Amino acid sequence: MGFSIAIDGPAGAGKSTIAKRIAKELGFIYVDTGAMYRAMGLYFQRKNIEDTVVIKRDCKEADITILYENGEQQVILNGENVNGFIRTEEAGKMASHVAKIKEVRFQLVELQRKLSKTSDVVMDGRDIGTHVLPNADLKIYLTASAYTRAERRYKELLEKGETCELEKIEEDIVARDEQDMNREFAPLRQAQDAVLIDSSDLTIDEVVKKIIYLYANKQ
Ligand code: C5P
Repeated sequence: MGFSIAIDGPAGAGKSTIAKRIAKELGFIYVDTGAMYRAMGLYFQRKNIEDTVVIKRDCKEADITILYENGEQQVILNGENVNGFIRTEEAGKMASHVAKIKEVRFQLVELQRKLSKTSDVVMDGRDIGTHVLPNADLKIYLTASAYTRAERRYKELLEKGETCELEKIEEDIVARDEQDMNREFAPLRQAQDAVLIDSSDLTIDEVVKKIIYLYANKQ
């Protein structure tokens, strides 16, 4: 069992950017669990299936595995690298939908735990500190105001050349948080022993520094 850092928090708090930076600095692998739920969502989106009964029954047909190329996590769905298809708003919504289903979570949590057994990891998601790795060596709950998170996402989309409305993005973010916090199984919640970091008024560098400092004190 290696060292594990769990980073949980709502959509758009900067988890993946921060987790990637920390993994690089410490020489850990970065495990992006959201990407796994997105790949599962994509599988059913392509089949036009939203019915939870069918998803429950068929989720085993989506074989999701992970590999690393130049340190970057690649998600493989039934043999296909789907990294290029899972970053859309639609895939995010679909991910949150399939993530409510217990059978889907069992399947993906098994994969996540396996990865943590073989390497030192920085793993980000919604239930890492509370459910996937309850004994993680360091737990962070990273959040920011809904407005700040929407604004960041808005800028990201503009940079990609996509048109969007800030208000609509904020609405979507609030709706996704609500769904993630109120689902029955493994909802988004701050673990009791997690350190809360609100990144609303912090730069990426400042958050990274804080976490590296917390890590150094655990050694
Ligand atoms: O973090 P990201 O936005 O990629 O996650 C997409 C969705 O996947 C989340 O809104 C959440 O519903 C789900 N998810 C989850 N548990 C995790 C990671 C993501 O339920 N550990």
